[in-house]
Amino acid sequence: MEKPRIYITRKIPDEVIKPYKQFIDIRMWEKATEPVPRDILLEEIKHVDGLFCLLTEQVDQQCLENASKLKVIANMAVGYDNIDVTSAKDQGIIVTNTPDVLTETTADLAFTLVMATARRVVEASDYIRAGKWKHWSPFMLAGADIHNKTIGIVGMGRIGQAVARRASGFGMEILYHNRSRHKRAEHELHATYADMDKLLEESDFVVSLVPLTEQTEKLFHQETFHKMKDTAIFINVSRGKVVDEQALYEALRTKEIAAAGLDVFANEPIGVDHPLLNLENVICLPHIGSASVDTRIDMMKLCLENIHHVLNGEDPVTPVE
Ligand code: DGY
Repeated sequence: MEKPRIYITRKIPDEVIKPYKQFIDIRMWEKATEPVPRDILLEEIKHVDGLFCLLTEQVDQQCLENASKLKVIANMAVGYDNIDVTSAKDQGIIVTNTPDVLTETTADLAFTLVMATARRVVEASDYIRAGKWKHWSPFMLAGADIHNKTIGIVGMGRIGQAVARRASGFGMEILYHNRSRHKRAEHELHATYADMDKLLEESDFVVSLVPLTEQTEKLFHQETFHKMKDTAIFINVSRGKVVDEQALYEALRTKEIAAAGLDVFANEPIGVDHPLLNLENVICLPHIGSASVDTRIDMMKLCLENIHHVLNGEDPVTPVE
């Protein structure tokens, strides 16, 4: 019997795909660091039963119109706002993502940004490199404490809870806002549910971990930043579009809030001319939340496992519900 065929939109290591080669005919975009061109994706998708894609691909209506054989889309990310899930489901295509395997790694990065912004780590390193370190002095690059402060987590999903666990180790008070209450987090992590206004007003660190949906687009806007303390630090490791970037820029420029640590942007990749890069009180990272070697390999394996399950007539491991 002919093997089912899949397309992977990025070159991934041979040892990751090797175990699946006996079951699946695998084609792959040839480059590891550059996304597949749109016209090639539109052509490839016509012929495959499964698509393994990244958040750099927009799997939209136009793409899906071409996908008459497609049965499964495995997105190598926990977020799936790059996929038109409703249209895919209407066509009977199963969509999967990669939750769990990236939770701790992404929470590590979120907490790295909390610490690096509070203690001005990037600025301090640049300070030495620029030859500015002439003397030690009491307030040279003095930042904010992290321990015993209040962290406000917006989006208490798996990653939110993992951030809360880290915050708890630092003796922080934990506030959270979420669509629904998380009794377990309240019980185990002593996290307190707060409405958005209270969270914004009382938190020293506001951490965005909400997925991008119609409801969360520009959730953080002018008024939101206005409600935060002027010493507050804003961290975003979810999706750039949940923030009104112009409003954030103004809030940082006018010191309405103290600093920001951003792993994600409204339009990625950003270039060196992005206004936020002109501000000293911002740390910008190129969307590396889940970027540890082990986790990225686990994400790849989970995508292949999901595809293998579906093409074998079994339930996917991590379907997007
Ligand atoms: C995700 O999984 O959604 C991240 O943003 C990519 O690592």
